Amino acid sequence: MIDIQTLTSRIGAEVQNIKIGGDLDAATVQELRRALVEHKVLFFREQDHLTPAEHVAFGRLFGDLETHPFIGAHPNHPELIILRRSPDMRAQRSRSPYGENFWHSDVSWRAEPSFGSILRAVEVPPMGGDTLWADMEAAFAGLSSSIQEALKSLRAVHDFDKSFGPTIAPENKAAMAEKFPPVEHPLVRTNPDTGASVLYVNEPFTSRIVGMETRESDALLRMLFSHASRPEYQCRFSWRPGSVAFWDNRSTQHYACDDFGDETRVMQRITIAGDSPY
Ligand code: SIN
Repeated sequence: MIDIQTLTSRIGAEVQNIKIGGDLDAATVQELRRALVEHKVLFFREQDHLTPAEHVAFGRLFGDLETHPFIGAHPNHPELIILRRSPDMRAQRSRSPYGENFWHSDVSWRAEPSFGSILRAVEVPPMGGDTLWADMEAAFAGLSSSIQEALKSLRAVHDFDKSFGPTIAPENKAAMAEKFPPVEHPLVRTNPDTGASVLYVNEPFTSRIVGMETRESDALLRMLFSHASRPEYQCRFSWRPGSVAFWDNRSTQHYACDDFGDETRVMQRITIAGDSPY
């Protein structure tokens, strides 16, 4: 039996008295998966033993792992990306607007976006650097029924270019666009595990709503982004080295708070393959 402390009434739970890794038995894995679907993001403290290899092995217990085409990975583990923010990265940011301080759902620009993501803190700043998660099922439920009905028939385009475009060398752009063309997903997706409806748009990757004029699409997306960022749908986690977060990427968005000035923050993440949203 795993020991769970919920963080809010909607989203987030800390799992206690567990040492995560690739050697967990099938019953525990099933229990964690069930808890993940219910609480949407699980937190684990004091997992200092989790080496990159163990991080990858833990993720594999939940499905196939992805590699990320635009973010640098660990030299020995191509599935493990390194999210580093430091003064030298900030200097580069003038060339690239991309960071994780946007509300987003990981790789929604893939035809089959990730089911889950597992993030481990390697180096944390002395203050700040929290991550927030939003419950997109609660965000959908918080809309009036007439808007809900209207949204259910809509589809939106998701595209890596909006965020990663400026980071890609011009000579590689065409090949990347061919490999990862813009995809359409329903604006309201169904969580395959629960049948719940989930609002599925995010600011860095959703470029437009299909069949709408640009100004209509922009206005509706702006309203939905703003609605989804209400604090009532959120939980917030303060990292310590060795902390781990595991989120259901189908029913959440997250935001890495860039409030740590010139300090360094290093995280490592794997993503677990998902399926086509419906
Ligand atoms: C991410 O966007 O997947 C990383 C979030 C974080 O670094 O807190």
